[in-house]
Amino acid sequence: MDITIFGSGYVGLVTGACLAEVGNHVLCIDVDQSKIDLLNSGGVPIYEPGLDTLIAKNRAAGRLTFSTDAVAGVHHGLFQFIAVGTPPDEDGSADLQYVLAVAKTIGQHLTQYRIIVDKSTVPVGTADRVQQTINDTLAARGMSIEFDVVSNPEFLKEGAAIEDFMRPDRIVIGTDNPRTAELLRALYAPFNRNRDRLVLMDIRSAELTKYAANAMLATKISFMNELSNIAEAVGADIEMVRVGIGSDPRIGYQFIYPGCGYGGSCFPKDVRALARTATGIGYQPQLLQAVEDVNDRQKELLFAKIDQYFNHALTGKTFAIWGLSFKPNTDDMREAASRRLMEQLWQAGAIVRAFDPVATHEARRIYGERPELILMDDPMEALEGADGLIIVTEWSQFRSPDFTAIRVALRTPVLFDGRNLFDYKHVTTAGLTYVSIGRQLHSATG
Ligand code: UDX
Repeated sequence: MDITIFGSGYVGLVTGACLAEVGNHVLCIDVDQSKIDLLNSGGVPIYEPGLDTLIAKNRAAGRLTFSTDAVAGVHHGLFQFIAVGTPPDEDGSADLQYVLAVAKTIGQHLTQYRIIVDKSTVPVGTADRVQQTINDTLAARGMSIEFDVVSNPEFLKEGAAIEDFMRPDRIVIGTDNPRTAELLRALYAPFNRNRDRLVLMDIRSAELTKYAANAMLATKISFMNELSNIAEAVGADIEMVRVGIGSDPRIGYQFIYPGCGYGGSCFPKDVRALARTATGIGYQPQLLQAVEDVNDRQKELLFAKIDQYFNHALTGKTFAIWGLSFKPNTDDMREAASRRLMEQLWQAGAIVRAFDPVATHEARRIYGERPELILMDDPMEALEGADGLIIVTEWSQFRSPDFTAIRVALRTPVLFDGRNLFDYKHVTTAGLTYVSIGRQLHSATG
């Protein structure tokens, strides 16, 4: 099948590469000429495991092409995916200008039946606005051409996006046209084997499903973070509590890991946007607001612990940070806990020596060259002369470090663990004090 994808960002590229991989002819369009030039010269503008190989293979096979020619895009695909960004407005609601600009382009150049697929995360009612925009544009041309607008939200996790696309839990399709539903069923058939994962529903429910999924997961995390603060204060261990509740299948083990707050491009933005949708219709979203507030507070927790440990005297101190990305296997630092932490440490007069397996270039892009941020290529070198190690992201390479070597390298032998990676005994017997989340402080014994 012929498919056009508007927007060659994270979602667009993963969607395009995976749809090409199963034999479709995919044309990816973007307004950013430098991005398209990079893709056409074999580069990939984002870091996602496996994506470069998949793109190279399908480009070589002639099934995946990149262009800035939006008109060619409208003519190419029966399916016209909209996968452009929906950045938050000042009030937290999703800014739809890029989505509607694509709708307008489609309306301006439509010559035959097309299915417009909303892949971007968009508030309820956006499909109607896309429909309206295309209709208005067609009317201005004095034309009437049949088309359908479908909501097909993505559920891709950064770092595992290709796996999520190739083997999805569910494929949500929102449409009120049974014929369109069948065409999408055929499009997704290669990803829908063994058991039917297609969930068909009306358009508004599909749009809301995406927000509901992310808000639910964010709620689980904020709940556990709130509970971790209670656990710590009452002398309990949140990791014990986590295992104790996770064994109940109604609760489950997933997304109940306490930590230093959720980040990324989805949870913070989507929780806020859903809350904004609710207030927009006159409903007070108390729970969603609390989920966001708890997360905000949690992102300041590591700093509070460090500040308290050093009796509010952080001026002139140096801290080693392991992990800058908002989670492992990505270089994405959007709303990452590391950012708030570093900014608070700098504010308090401290210097940061940071290591991340892939995100140091992103940190350099965000913060530039500055004396209070030293980016290191080696995790152990980051520790030299530091007044403590702070773990912010749970990259697997941090999971079994040489604690003795850590203690020897540090000036002050203390480990602040924002992800509860270790059994305190392994840390303390090596001569390090261990401070983690929702658990008691354990002093060095070795
Ligand atoms: C999320 C959704 O999982 C995905 O389905 C959706 O399409 C996009 O948003 P992503 O943002 O890539 O994906 O990351 P995810 O793995 O969900 O983690 C989000 C944040 O929550 C990270 O900062 C992570 O560290 C944090 N988290 C996750 C916790 O603090 N505790 C947990 O138990 C799980």
